[in-house]
Amino acid sequence: MIILDGKKVAEQIKTELKEKVDKLIAENKKVPGLVTIMVGDNPASHSYVNSKSKSSTAIGMLSKVEKLPAETTEDELIELVEKYNYDKNYHGILVQLPLPKHINEDRVIMAINPDKDVDGFHPISVGKLVIGQDTFLPCTPAGIQELFKRYNIETTGKHVVVVGRSNIVGKPITNIMFQKKQWANSIVTICHTAANDLSVYTKQADILIAAIGQPNFIKADMVKDGVVVIDVGINRVEDANLPKGYRIVGDVDFENVAPKSSYITPVPGGVGLLTVAMLLSNTYKAYAMKEGIK
Ligand code: GUN
Repeated sequence: MIILDGKKVAEQIKTELKEKVDKLIAENKKVPGLVTIMVGDNPASHSYVNSKSKSSTAIGMLSKVEKLPAETTEDELIELVEKYNYDKNYHGILVQLPLPKHINEDRVIMAINPDKDVDGFHPISVGKLVIGQDTFLPCTPAGIQELFKRYNIETTGKHVVVVGRSNIVGKPITNIMFQKKQWANSIVTICHTAANDLSVYTKQADILIAAIGQPNFIKADMVKDGVVVIDVGINRVEDANLPKGYRIVGDVDFENVAPKSSYITPVPGGVGLLTVAMLLSNTYKAYAMKEGIK
């Protein structure tokens, strides 16, 4: 069994990007810029946004965080997005989800210029992905594909079973993995809460992608021997023994599933860190497209 080291792969990706940005700086060129917008004070969102901002600064990118109060209206938020649509210093715009209930997320996402849609959530980006055109891949699914690539895990003809149908992970990873492309070309099943018995599907997986949002949901008797397990869950569970009062666990019962797996991602230290690395990679891509760099 091999533990897929998300931290190591994320560091590799960031080092490669930093080299590209260093070269731009040495040539006195503009650097890629990312603006992250968050509304309200969801603690998890705070920590994601801070980590996105810190990482982009660390590799030499321009980074700005816009933290707006919870009462911000939908129109005010859209106005800010539109301001950045025209700002030549920012090549990527990310609006951290979830947004407060009074704001329509779809409207906000649709306000982002698709050329700056580094999250890959705009319907134009989603449509391009489905029909196999080059576009921004949503960051977490892109990170999963990067793990297959960097660990040389065969995906062609393999049965990928995705559990969860979110717009952020389940749907995009499904659309990525069935494409006739390298590190994809898989047979894909997507299943979700409407199934009477999810294990009927998960037991068939050569590669199981768990994006459910339920701590330790996938048990050892739900997978076959030799499965590749990608755990996308980031769940806070109470733990009075820790100073923070909680710990982070995945959607997979790691302790019991790991011995049956050929490869498995840990939580933390797996997919989560790759999300940020792929966001930076998408920001560089947006920059390169805009500035006409290969
Ligand atoms: N909330 C949880 N994951 C993400 C993500 O990848 N992007 C955004 N914008 N919000 C999120």
